[in-house]
Amino acid sequence: MTDTPPDAGSAAPPRRATIAETVATSDSFLRHVGREFLVVFYAALRSLKLYPIENAQVQKALDDLATVAKHVLDVEQELELRLQGEFIFVNSTRLRLALENYASFSHVLQVMRTCGVGAIRLDAQVDRRQLQILVSLLLAHSTGETSPDTIHEIIGKLSEAGATHVVVEPPFETDENVADSEKAKEAAKRTYARSVAVTKEVINSLRLGRTANVKRVKRAVQAIVDQVLNNESSLLGLTTLRDYDEYTFVHSVNVCIFSVALGRKLGLTKLQLYDLGMTALFHDVGKSRVPLEVLNKEGGLTEEEWRILQAHPWLGVLTLFGLRGYGEIPYRGMVVCYEHHMKTDLTGYPRAIRPRSLSIFSKIVAVADGFDAATSRRVYQTVPIQPDQVLKEMWENPRRGYDRVVVKAFINLIGIYPVGTCVILDTYEVALVHAANPDTSFVHRPVVRIVASADGAITHPGILADLAERDAQGNFPRTIVKVTDPSRFGINVSDYFV
Ligand SMILES: [Fe+2]
Ligand SMILES: [Fe+2]
Repeated sequence: MTDTPPDAGSAAPPRRATIAETVATSDSFLRHVGREFLVVFYAALRSLKLYPIENAQVQKALDDLATVAKHVLDVEQELELRLQGEFIFVNSTRLRLALENYASFSHVLQVMRTCGVGAIRLDAQVDRRQLQILVSLLLAHSTGETSPDTIHEIIGKLSEAGATHVVVEPPFETDENVADSEKAKEAAKRTYARSVAVTKEVINSLRLGRTANVKRVKRAVQAIVDQVLNNESSLLGLTTLRDYDEYTFVHSVNVCIFSVALGRKLGLTKLQLYDLGMTALFHDVGKSRVPLEVLNKEGGLTEEEWRILQAHPWLGVLTLFGLRGYGEIPYRGMVVCYEHHMKTDLTGYPRAIRPRSLSIFSKIVAVADGFDAATSRRVYQTVPIQPDQVLKEMWENPRRGYDRVVVKAFINLIGIYPVGTCVILDTYEVALVHAANPDTSFVHRPVVRIVASADGAITHPGILADLAERDAQGNFPRTIVKVTDPSRFGINVSDYFV
């Protein structure tokens, strides 16, 4: 690692493609072959609907389908066709609708919907016979009555027929345009759980000395970015679910969510956010090379143990080099691994020998990381610090070494009372912050969920109250008096966010 600023990447030939560039090229490839796949898929459905299977036109359509599928699978290893609202995605790339493919789009969309299928996944071993089974099954179920069981019937028949390389799934992402916040929350929860699972898989396999598949992580990050862009607050709310045992994985996902939301606030493009999300998710990947006894040790660390723990930034760089799919590794990910504990004044670790300025990605991840780490309960930190105190310290104490602009943006993002903060109101009610007020002049008046009445009775789920709302006289009926520790009231924050 040189001490040149990471953005001056041209100084280090040959330059690796950044994840954004990789995504961009694979995006246009997928858009192209995805459309092609949809057209042949449609042709197969249509011809099989009109003619018996032996018919030459049907056979040709199935040949074409197998050829195009193979073409995609040679490059991508997996082909996923997924519906999301009115859109069709191929491996996370949204297909653009054009007039000439309108018929195939809408037909495939309709067949999948009638069958209750949200996604079709093919893996590299799929063959023409299995594709034929898929097409026949979809066709057979797309005409009759639709019931919630249709998808399960299809799944059962696929396995009966031995089509092991074809997977169909019920819809799992909600419509991008669904206003229904409950649905958005469900979708956020699934994205969150999936991201934690993928991260866990990657870190655990690295710990066992195996390589890990970056592609799945990339997809999880894309889902996070898409969701943050659609409905920021639903994912941010989930960062309050801090599972003690799963700390490492949950922490990585939280840092990813905070970083992406922060990057968005700072005006990064979607592709830059993909890049940032990946780097954030992998920021502590070096910890997979630190013994668990050191990571989970209760009480103080010995000098030697500190030395090992503080090696995780550069161990992370080495780990990223070893990941499968080398071209997929963001160069910036290595920089972030290396720099995220350095602090803006370079008093952190690893020690910088010469002056350097930290990459903006490192500054963003450092703030997200610092906030999540300080507000989490861990083996050696049984009482987490209240979020507002953490923010105050990050903002006021220059020795913490955070970038002021980034901290400011972070406070604007999550409010001075971040989601999940437990507060006492002037009505003596106890409430949990539900969402920051979108109007930044009301940062001190978030939307809260009242979880305990003035006489101390716990309510679940409790009612929502917008603290910026005034009564008929123009007064605020409720105002935050102070932040408190929810456990003092027997309140379990995660009960209200699951
Ligand atoms: Fe770290
Ligand atoms: Fe971290």
